[in-house]
Amino acid sequence: MTKLQHWLYLLIGITAFVYLGYAGYSYYLTPYEERFFHPSHSILKPSGIIGHGLGIIGSFMMLVGVVLYMLRKRLKSFARVGAIKNWLELHIFLCSLGPVLVLFHTAFKFGGIVAISFWSMVAVVISGVIGRFIYVQIPRSIRGNEYSMEELKMLNQSFGEKLKNEFNMDNSLLTKLEHFASLKVYKSPNLFSIIPLTVKDHMANKKILNELKTHLRSEKISEKSINQIVEISKSKLILSRKISLLNSVQEMFRYWHIIHLPFAIVMLLIMILHVVITVAFGYRWIF
Ligand code: HEM
Ligand code: HEM
Repeated sequence: MTKLQHWLYLLIGITAFVYLGYAGYSYYLTPYEERFFHPSHSILKPSGIIGHGLGIIGSFMMLVGVVLYMLRKRLKSFARVGAIKNWLELHIFLCSLGPVLVLFHTAFKFGGIVAISFWSMVAVVISGVIGRFIYVQIPRSIRGNEYSMEELKMLNQSFGEKLKNEFNMDNSLLTKLEHFASLKVYKSPNLFSIIPLTVKDHMANKKILNELKTHLRSEKISEKSINQIVEISKSKLILSRKISLLNSVQEMFRYWHIIHLPFAIVMLLIMILHVVITVAFGYRWIF
């Protein structure tokens, strides 16, 4: 997943939201009782050609986003199809854009039993964003597979060796960096304390890296080498924080699934019921 794809996903999501909001705002802002007389009612109501279509396409996106990711993650025969990281990105894309379309399908009227499905969807999306934050705290390979503790320690060590052997970083500077990057003991962090803790650590690292940069400049080292040294040092500092937090974060992530998955199931089950009921009432969209 390149940065470009990342931004493209975000751009598509935001454009869809802004476009749908802009195209229908006069209808969506009309009070429920008066909507019947609005010229766009026949197309934007949840059973209208556009409103209904958005519901179907949005729900389809969520289904595909969940099924593909679950298959790739759980089935051995799919274990080699593409990097898991890219499948997760696709999951996040389809399962963020889908809810946006479903939101416009409801025309901002959250009535009936299907409202439970809607609010479960909102809960899954919000928990998804939190889960994504926890997910990136667990160090992974380029393909997105988790490293073992042994591999992590070796990786951390290899950064130090690289700085020493490739860039001839002097020993006193290296010892100083090792000191800052030494594994820390954080007092049993939880979901609430981990965010300020990470921000604080990020600021502290920034300060250390700035000092390192200033020092390297005074040594008249080329700007290109300075950037490379700073990049490796930064990776080392971030990695050691992640190693220190690993056990707590892994446990947090296990608990997190207990929220994300059940809400997804509730949403899907009630959605199926909703579809069965509407089809039974004769709503067929364009088919
Ligand atoms: C998670 C997915 C979905 C959610 C959260 C959702 C939510 C809603 C909501 C809140 C309404 C308005 C209820 C009201 O007027 O008070 C509605 C109406 C409707 N939905 Fe969905 N919907 C979803 C998926 C679908 C799908 C896939 C279909 C396709 C069959 C569909 C077909 C309809 C129809 C036909 C109506 C209008 C019913 C009527 O006017 O009596 N919905 N939906
Ligand atoms: C309606 C929307 C969504 C549904 C129905 C949904 C459903 C699911 C399901 C069923 C799983 C698999 C859970 C498991 O393996 O135990 C999952 C995993 C995940 N989802 Fe979602 N999701 C949605 C939206 C999102 C969003 C918006 C994000 C992020 C911004 C997100 C992030 C994740 C992450 C990080 C994982 C865990 C990956 C892992 O453990 O391998 N999800 N989701």
